[in-house]
Amino acid sequence: MNISDSFKNSKSSKNYVKTIFNDDVLGKTKEWFENYTKIMAYYRCAMMEIETKFNVLNEEFSLQLDRNPINGIKTRIKNPLSLKEKLDRKNLAVTIENIEEHINDVAGVRVICSFPEDVYTLADALLSQDDITLIETKDYIKNPKPNGYRSLHLIVSVPIFLAKEKRSMKVEIQLRTIAMDSWASLEHQLRYKKDTDFTEEMAKELLYCARLSSELDEKMDNLRKQIQSSKI
Ligand code: GTP
Ligand code: MG
Repeated sequence: MNISDSFKNSKSSKNYVKTIFNDDVLGKTKEWFENYTKIMAYYRCAMMEIETKFNVLNEEFSLQLDRNPINGIKTRIKNPLSLKEKLDRKNLAVTIENIEEHINDVAGVRVICSFPEDVYTLADALLSQDDITLIETKDYIKNPKPNGYRSLHLIVSVPIFLAKEKRSMKVEIQLRTIAMDSWASLEHQLRYKKDTDFTEEMAKELLYCARLSSELDEKMDNLRKQIQSSKI
């Protein structure tokens, strides 16, 4: 069960949303909360659409390549607390309009690829689909962040087909290799450790690890090319 399911199924989820948005939603009606729940369901649908598209691409490319370009897919819906914190940071009120207009990562899909080449093959294949609109690209593989973070980020909009209407929803997609993912997961855990000062020295060590992870990707990619070219 992923995070979104556990949130959806949680009996207290409605109360939880009310608690988190308490100060901002005083005077907000039952209808507001129903709309919030509805919009979150739409984001979950969009997330499922994107996940399915990647699963389909994985099936097709695995026939062509004789290996799986996708190692795993993770999905998540932004929880009410992170949503509120992000709106606060942007000095925006908690409204459905602000969520839809200003928060690009309510729905998130992370695609863990086998090799760096797969990241771009999959991204290109997704973006060439005629129902996908690209809103923003951030290529932290070609241009890593100063701390060493690497991944390809896409913000896309995808239509979802409801009983009586069609809605376009935004989804944040992060594509990265296994090496990029392990670095990012560990860096995230270390950086957000409570009661610990994150020193300059630690940042340097992490950057060094990011270089090693990039080297690992390069070496594995070379190996892949050698093996591929030696195939008859
Ligand atoms: P957010 O406000 O955090 O969403 O950042 P942003 O709008 O500037 O977008 P960006 O594309 O830079 O980052 C979005 C997401 O990428 C984050 O929420 C993380 O999941 C991931 N990410 C970005 N930078 C880092 C990093 O330095 N370390 C790790 N571990 N993850 C990162
Ligand atoms: Mg984010």
